Amino acid sequence: MQHSFVASCAFGLEAVLARELRALDLQEVRAENGQVHFKGDFLAMARANLWARTADRIWLRVGQFPATTFEDLFQGTRALPWPDLMPEDANFPVEGLSHGSQLSSVPACQSIVKKAAVEAMAARYKRKIFAEDGPRFPIRVALSKDLATVSLDTSGVGLHKRGYRLLTTEAPIRETLAAGMVLLSYWSPNRLLVDPFCGSGTILLEAAMIGLHQAPGWQREFAAEKWPAVGDQVWQVARQEVADRFDRTTKLRISGSDGDDQAIRLANQNLQRSGLEQRGITLRTRPLAQLATETEYGVLITNPPYGERLSDKQEVERLYTQFGNIVRPWLSTWSAYIITNHPEFVSCFGAEPQKRRKLYNGMIECSFHQYLGPRPPAP
Ligand SMILES: C[S@@+](CC[C@H](N)C(=O)[O-])C[C@H]1O[C@@H](n2cnc3c(N)ncnc32)[C@H](O)[C@@H]1O
Repeated sequence: MQHSFVASCAFGLEAVLARELRALDLQEVRAENGQVHFKGDFLAMARANLWARTADRIWLRVGQFPATTFEDLFQGTRALPWPDLMPEDANFPVEGLSHGSQLSSVPACQSIVKKAAVEAMAARYKRKIFAEDGPRFPIRVALSKDLATVSLDTSGVGLHKRGYRLLTTEAPIRETLAAGMVLLSYWSPNRLLVDPFCGSGTILLEAAMIGLHQAPGWQREFAAEKWPAVGDQVWQVARQEVADRFDRTTKLRISGSDGDDQAIRLANQNLQRSGLEQRGITLRTRPLAQLATETEYGVLITNPPYGERLSDKQEVERLYTQFGNIVRPWLSTWSAYIITNHPEFVSCFGAEPQKRRKLYNGMIECSFHQYLGPRPPAP
């Protein structure tokens, strides 16, 4: 049976996510602000959860209808096929959001949706009270311009939680954004990849998983894994595909460094948890000043400090200047991708990027500076 799904993502990553979902052979993929729609069966949903590197969550759209009154919202929700989706012991909390709609009280909308779903379940299961001690079915009601969209969260914990990163440094980048930066780059597994401000190693680990076709969700669970309507077989098939596609032999050339010893310790712990420690990823403590290479046609992808506090601003500008002085000469063969929100980055770095793209690092609007070097010669 075909369902409508929505994959949510950070602003700026919609096109990358749409590309990922098309590569999974999902149907009617369509990007919008902060989300990508697609259609498919539950196997498509399982694949999206396991493989979409830039998605925050995969939502199953249960229904959409106009709602300007609480009665509209109640009747519209009551008519949705809740008992076909949820078992008698389902635990179904409701969250909500509203903008530009007459129904603006989010808590009131949440409680109406809850009541309507309970009533639909009561009609099927012939009882009024539900223990809700079974699998989780997080419901979301979103009102936008008087249109109510009611969805179920198939992911549970956000998809950026891959499972390898338990501890983080001070300013870690989200795994989904790190993956997006790598997917936007021209890195391929036969090229050297360098992150000289690697912190807890997120960009390197996301790149390694991309290079080795390792599904980002391989070592975690998803809410819909416990849904009887989906069934175990779907997940067995999807998880078997994950095992089959994983490249167990390629040795990568990925090198991370950071001036902070403690960050490298964390990065090493994350690397161990990722299970990729024998796959050509090297990590070391090294201040930027010692960054050097003899390799050509490498790719640098990094998230340097931004100098958020005023007192750090000048220090960061000096760091960007030093960074430019070291890396600019490499750019005749290297490609470099640098994300920062600092408005003076380009003038400090001393080279104009061929492309810039707006990306959000959490709530911070950043520029992703893309220095596109030449293609490496054929081997
Ligand atoms: C924004 S954080 C990078 C976070 C990383 N992407 C992650 O996911 O954990 C910037 C990193 O730059 C490092 N750093 C700052 N100044 C440095 C310098 N002069 N040389 C090397 N590393 C430096 C910091 O220790 C910090 O880990």
